[in-house]
Amino acid sequence: MQYSQKVLDHFMKPHNVGKIENPDAMATEGSPACGDQVSIYLKVKPETLVIEDIKFQSYGCASNIATASIITDMAKGKTLEQANKITWKEAAEALDGLPPVKMHCSVLAVDTLRKAIYDYEIKHNLVEKKKFNKELIIEELKKVIYPKVGEDIVTLKMVKYVGFENGVATIDIDIPSFDTHRDNIVEEVKEHLQRFKEIKDIKITI
Ligand code: FES
Repeated sequence: MQYSQKVLDHFMKPHNVGKIENPDAMATEGSPACGDQVSIYLKVKPETLVIEDIKFQSYGCASNIATASIITDMAKGKTLEQANKITWKEAAEALDGLPPVKMHCSVLAVDTLRKAIYDYEIKHNLVEKKKFNKELIIEELKKVIYPKVGEDIVTLKMVKYVGFENGVATIDIDIPSFDTHRDNIVEEVKEHLQRFKEIKDIKITI
């Protein structure tokens, strides 16, 4: 697998590694694509909502360590609002690219950062708890990456229908029967949606 020099640099000597004792906020997330985990800790200046310190611990692969290293660099010194806008694509670009099959590692790092920011915002009553609805399901599906091209299945228009009624999520995915990633994509969609306690049943048609 071809990695850029920047990925290798951040993997070999990652920045901001470790744990913050008594953090103002933190999050741990796992990737349904591979089962790896990353934790992110924040120290935030309450008057300005600027991220003063940020650290991560990764139990993921080289790409995940490199992405967590670069996004913690990118987020440090930014306000929570600015840091929340960092996308997994920007993180991958800042590393001079990632192999398509490794894009989900960048998604995991950015998702964890956003969850840590949300943790702070909820604790300090800066935002209302997100209401569960169809849009939230679509947002979650944007974290499922089609490994052949390194893009998410919503942007690729592989998701043809999303419904949510009486606790049942109904998803229609367009993916040919001969596609070798078919079963993995379906499994990953299920794992992403199983995280929501509001979803009692998942019906996927392909
Ligand atoms: Fe799991 Fe990269 S393969 S985070």
